[in-house]
Amino acid sequence: MNNQSKNQILHEKRAQSRLGGGPERIETQHKKGRLTARERIDLLLDKGSFREVDAFVQHRTADFDLHKQKYMSDSVVTGWGTIEGRLVYVFSQDFTVFGGSLGEVHAEKVCKIMDMAMKNGAPVIGLNDSGGARIQEGVVSLAGYADIFLRNTMASGVIPQISAIMGPCAGGAVYSPALTDFIFMTRNTSYMFVTGPDVVKAVTHEEVTQEELGGASVHSEKSGVCHVAADSEADTLYLIRKLLGYFPQNNMEDPPFMPGDDPLRMDETLNNIIPDDPNKPYDIKDVIRPIMDGGQFFEIHENYAQNIVVGFARLGGHSVGIVANQPAVLAGVLDIDSSEKAARFVRFCDSFNIPLVTFVDVPGFLPGTVQEHNGIIRSGAKLLYAYCEATVPKLTVITRKAYGGAYDVMSSKHIRGDVNFAWPSAEIAVMGPDGAVNIIFRKELEKAKDPAKRKAELVAEYREKFASPYVAAERGYIDDVIEPKETRPRLINALEMLSNKRDANPPKKHGNIPL
Ligand code: HXC
Repeated sequence: MNNQSKNQILHEKRAQSRLGGGPERIETQHKKGRLTARERIDLLLDKGSFREVDAFVQHRTADFDLHKQKYMSDSVVTGWGTIEGRLVYVFSQDFTVFGGSLGEVHAEKVCKIMDMAMKNGAPVIGLNDSGGARIQEGVVSLAGYADIFLRNTMASGVIPQISAIMGPCAGGAVYSPALTDFIFMTRNTSYMFVTGPDVVKAVTHEEVTQEELGGASVHSEKSGVCHVAADSEADTLYLIRKLLGYFPQNNMEDPPFMPGDDPLRMDETLNNIIPDDPNKPYDIKDVIRPIMDGGQFFEIHENYAQNIVVGFARLGGHSVGIVANQPAVLAGVLDIDSSEKAARFVRFCDSFNIPLVTFVDVPGFLPGTVQEHNGIIRSGAKLLYAYCEATVPKLTVITRKAYGGAYDVMSSKHIRGDVNFAWPSAEIAVMGPDGAVNIIFRKELEKAKDPAKRKAELVAEYREKFASPYVAAERGYIDDVIEPKETRPRLINALEMLSNKRDANPPKKHGNIPL
């Protein structure tokens, strides 16, 4: 055979590989409103940058006559490429081949890519679209999953790991995405559940659709499993590209520096944003956006536990992670879900050298039996622990209320906040004036001729004395009281002052965060 014929064979094999499960199955996939594994990779990566590996790997199973059905690449496409010129590793499950199910060689291909990503210090992105463990391969499929889970865990905190759910993701298959840092889901076409509707019906007699059980809305609003839900596959992939721009390639690097907005820019609107009535809400995102470069804020968990807001932005070109109480939802109170949401976010930022900026307006923890019985003590402790252990630069701005334990938790000076600012509207106290007066002046109020009038006087007195930033500032718990409009330049200045910050925790195997 001459070289031309050999090259011809190569081209034919490559073309066959690109067809996955064949034209009919590709058409079925498109009819379901879903792209193929390779089309997704093309949208995700910089044009022409994808380099596939293992395109000729085929399964080795003969059981259930599987040897009669062989496809190039098996049910996953793997390789590397770039996003905005930066190296990433990708695996993209091919639903047109055995329903994207995971057998021995599928797992081997994913593991190979993950091992390369770890050696070379670059993110891994998994595009999931799979019927789960390949049933015909039995325990070998389960072993393959476990091999991936182990790698997910070892890679955690070393390289960023991102999962996109772009079709079904059932059974144990959900646990690899669950071990990664961020889960994206496409609305209406992606599902995640441990047990599907049929099993649910058999066990609980409950009739549910896939969407009701584990669609993007469920996981981005109720369970919090999904960090970002997007309307289409193209949007999902575009948002992954955007998110990666805030991250370093690995835990040994700093995030990319991308200047582009005036660091000295001030915003007058901030001076009037806090309502005169301390119980009136405002939207903390109206504080965050004008302070950040280009008014850009990439929100994580936008529709979940909305009483706290977390996400990424840039300050003077530096990538930062933002955590902010949201007075517009439940008065910004801390509860179980918001504490866990923020704790996980803080730990991600700390793992990857992304400084934290915390905006505080919190009346305390949510009272009540529901919260107590479901473990607000344990959950609140997670956020406290996460902030305490974080060694990245930590900047804090108290805009209004910082009451009680929540004051301590929200990146206070006492738990290694580096630079803590307060606006003149800040109220730093053990509790709000109303509650405080009811407790400490109970007897006086009982005896008062006009209890309502006396209470109003005492509340005003308390507010004057304690509900200000100056008691904390007198003790150095607050480094400075700043005018709201100066927040951006002051934060950027502090961030740059901290650019060589070195801090460490005592050597240990690992801590024991209250899970
Ligand atoms: C082998 C599978 C498969 C699987 C789907 N297929 N799932 N083959 N193993 N797990 C095949 C189908 O037989 C079919 O092949 C093709 O993929 C397309 O599947 P359809 O059912 O036609 O597609 P659709 O109607 O879109 O339904 C998709 C689906 C459904 C919802 C994912 O296929 C399904 O329920 N699959 C089983 C899900 C599941 O229970 N998986 C095991 C979970 S347990 P043909 O040739 O007929 O077109 C698990 C344990 C892991 O994952 C534990 C790790 C710790």
